[in-house]
Amino acid sequence: MAILSLPHQNNLFRTARINRPKSRFMPTTKVRMSLQENGPSIAVVGVTGAVGQEFLSVLSDRDFPYRSIKMLASKRSAGRRFTFQDNEYVIEELTPDSFDGVDIALFSAGGSISKEFGPIAVDRGTIVVDNSSAFRMDENVPLVIPEVNPEAMENIKLGTGKGSLIANPNCSTIICLMAATPLHRQAKVIRMVVSTYQAASGAGAAAMEELELQTREVLEGRPPTCEIFKQQYAFNLFSHNAPVLSNGYNEEEMKLVKETRKIWNDKDVKVTATCIRVPVMRAHAESVNLQFEKPLDEVTARNILKNAPGVVVIDDRASNHFPTPLEVSSKDDVAVGRIRSDLSQDRNKGLDIFVCGDQIRKGAALNAIQIAELLL
Ligand SMILES: NC(=O)c1ccc[n+]([C@@H]2O[C@H](COP(=O)([O-])OP(=O)(O)OC[C@H]3O[C@@H](n4cnc5c(N)ncnc54)[C@H](OP(=O)(O)O)[C@@H]3O)[C@@H](O)[C@H]2O)c1
Repeated sequence: MAILSLPHQNNLFRTARINRPKSRFMPTTKVRMSLQENGPSIAVVGVTGAVGQEFLSVLSDRDFPYRSIKMLASKRSAGRRFTFQDNEYVIEELTPDSFDGVDIALFSAGGSISKEFGPIAVDRGTIVVDNSSAFRMDENVPLVIPEVNPEAMENIKLGTGKGSLIANPNCSTIICLMAATPLHRQAKVIRMVVSTYQAASGAGAAAMEELELQTREVLEGRPPTCEIFKQQYAFNLFSHNAPVLSNGYNEEEMKLVKETRKIWNDKDVKVTATCIRVPVMRAHAESVNLQFEKPLDEVTARNILKNAPGVVVIDDRASNHFPTPLEVSSKDDVAVGRIRSDLSQDRNKGLDIFVCGDQIRKGAALNAIQIAELLL
C-alpha cells in the first residue's frame, strides 16, 4: 500500500509489490481506523523511507491504537502532505522538540539519526523502538524479537513518564532466529552457519529504485547507473555492501554473530555467516545449517516449526516447492522449507533449513510494532 504521495515512492512501492502471488499467508492490507483517545501518542521517525512507509502499513493492518501520530523525516520532506487512515498529515522536520508529549517513537532514519535523537527522545520520556544498529549491542538496551525474547523488555513500561530505548535486531538476524529459535529451544543449537541472499530493499528505498533502473538500463544495452552500490546489481550478485572488518567478516555478518548471542543470552553459541546481496526487490532468503547438542530428527523439527508463532512451513518435496522471496513479500510470517537432516553431521545432530522473510516487514517494521504492542 503506497501511503505517501511522493512520486518516486509511488513508483517504487508499486514495483516492490508487483507479481505478489496469492498464497496461504494472511492478507496484510486492510485499512482500519486506529485513532483512540486512550491510545499512546506516537511518532514515526523516517516516515518517508522504506521502513517508515511499512510502519504505516503495519500500524493500519494491526489496528494499532494511537491518539496522535507525528510524521517525521528530514528537512527535505518537511511540509509534504499525505493522507493516512482518512486523516491528513504534514511531514515535520525532525528536531529535538519533536518528542514533546510523544509516548512511543518508532525510529528508522539510520544509525547517526538514532544516536543523535534517540537519547534526546528518552530524556523527554519517550520509549524509542529503534531499527538501526546504533544501540543493539549496548548492554543496557534490550534487543527484542517478541516471539523469541519478550522477557528482555519486561522492565520497560508505558505511562511511567520514563523514557527508554529498545532495539530491533538486524533484519537477517530476525528472519534467521524466527526459524532457528523453536529448534534451539528443543535441542540447543551449539553451532549455526548462515548464508544470506539479501534483497535490495534491505538497503532502503533508493537501492530499490537503483535496481529497477539498472534492470531497465541493462536490458536496453545501456551502462548501469551505480550510485548506491559500487558495482552492477541487476543480473549480478555480490558480497554484502557493509564495511569489511579486519577479521575478514563484514559488519552484516558480525551482526548475525553478536546479535544471536545477545538475543539467546548464550555467549558460547558458535555462529558464522556469509552475507550476499542478490537482485531481488524485496524479502531476504537464508540458508541455515544447525548443529545441536541433543538429537533432533527432521520430522520432529518440521512439527515444531509448523507450530511456531510467526512461522509458516513450505516444504513440498514432491513438487519441489519451497519458500521464495516473492511468496513472502509483504507478508508477516517467515517461511521455512528444505527441512532436512544434515548428512555430514552425527545422526540427528544437524539440520539444514532454508528461510525466507520480508525484511522490511518482520525484519523491521512489524517486529518494531510488535515490540510497541508489548508496551500497551
Ligand atoms: N530496509 C530494511 O529492510 C531495513 C531493515 C531493518 C532495519 N533498517 C534500518 O532502518 C533505517 C532506515 O532504513 P530504510 O531502508 O527505511 O532507509 P531509507 O528508505 O533510505 O529511508 C531513510 C529515512 O530516513 C529519513 N532521514 C534521513 N536523514 C534524516 C534526517 N537528517 N532527519 C530525519 N530523517 C532523516 C529519510 O527522510 P527523507 O526522505 O526526508 O530524506 C527517510 O525517511 C536504517 O537504520 C536501516 O539500517 C532497514
